[in-house]
Amino acid sequence: MPAIATAHDAADPLAGFAEEFHHPYDAAGRRVLYFGGHSLGLQPKSAAKMLEQELADWRRLGVLGHHEAMRPWIPYHERAAPALAELVGALESEVVAMNSLTVNLHLMLVSFFRPAAPRNKVLIESSAFPSDRYAVVSQLEFHGLDAAQNLIEMQPRAGERTLRTEDLIECIEREGSALALVLLPGVQYLTGQSLDLKPLIDAARRVGAAVGLDLAHAIGNVPLRLHDWNPDFAVWCSYKYLNAGPGAVGGCFVHERHARDFKRPRFAGWWGHNKADRFLYDPDFEPIDGAQGWQISNPPILSAAPLIASLELFQEARFERLRAKSIALTGFLEQLLQPLQSSLELITPRAAASRGCQLSIRILGGGTRGKRVLDRLAELDVICDWREPDVIRVAPIPLYNRFEEVFTFGERLTQVLREIS
Ligand SMILES: Cc1ncc(COP(=O)(O)O)c(C=O)c1O
Repeated sequence: MPAIATAHDAADPLAGFAEEFHHPYDAAGRRVLYFGGHSLGLQPKSAAKMLEQELADWRRLGVLGHHEAMRPWIPYHERAAPALAELVGALESEVVAMNSLTVNLHLMLVSFFRPAAPRNKVLIESSAFPSDRYAVVSQLEFHGLDAAQNLIEMQPRAGERTLRTEDLIECIEREGSALALVLLPGVQYLTGQSLDLKPLIDAARRVGAAVGLDLAHAIGNVPLRLHDWNPDFAVWCSYKYLNAGPGAVGGCFVHERHARDFKRPRFAGWWGHNKADRFLYDPDFEPIDGAQGWQISNPPILSAAPLIASLELFQEARFERLRAKSIALTGFLEQLLQPLQSSLELITPRAAASRGCQLSIRILGGGTRGKRVLDRLAELDVICDWREPDVIRVAPIPLYNRFEEVFTFGERLTQVLREIS
């Protein structure tokens, strides 16, 4: 098996990209096995240079940097658009780098969640990321509605862990004209399931509901074709698979069919105002066409710089090649887990099309065994993470993880499961 891993690495056309990242190390200076990229991506080495350029331009130019910086700050966020558009399968005018995920979700809900009886329900999944649920419940309340009556939380079938497309479609069709909004994840954060989004979006649109997507775990991880799939909006963060750093500027997609939908309510700010006379300080708001019209404030340059650096790596690596490697890398991890089946349950779907990089594992044996396994792995310099109630998430990332690292993870997990019974 180590020979297989070595051979895979030797044949990997993307192997060199691992050296473009800083790899965390332990107190003794040993490089750790990092499988936490689904939570926080590693730092591209080019991020510091990109950031230093902005700090230098700020030092040298002060306010003049808005126009005269090497990368002028006024349109700075627009540098992210080509790569973001490519990653989500959209037109450049449909995407914008701004804010953070939950803030963008609220801004989108202001525009696209417009309940009017009898259409006043929202469908989400029962294990939606809590921030999404908080946002949706607070928006329901903002409209004078009540989660107990108006929030539908779709659960997997009894004894199953992931959602079935046909069950979601059946629910959408059953609720029909009562549904104001369907909010779905691209990749489910806990199970790692990648939803078959196209038929779900079609079903929601057929019944007249708005459709939004949370792509926190999907962007940079699985193929997306948002323009063709036709949701109303999508939101994402950039600190996971996009490697843009903690709390980095997030992003938003608004479908082209809403590009000039100026009658739709939106929360406005000067950065969403027509660029040609943004600095004429016209008192009346005139939105920019497309996703940029939903911007509120000027872009956070220091938080956007690492995103630009990271997106350059994505463009160089090319997403099709990353996805092909990801399928092989995660498939290799799954293979290594096979002999451990009596000790663990893999809750992520087996089919490559139904998952991204991440595998989610439940350690069998009851009690606190799962937590103890995770803690022992950490002692052995393995970084993965824990999500309540009992899930260990492991994500080999095609941009910077190697097959040999996955192999060593398998060895260490085997050792730990033997130690902790
Ligand atoms: C699926 C999902 N949605 C939403 C969020 C919230 O992101 P933010 O803090 O950027 O709003 C996260 C954060 O990890 C997430 O994983």
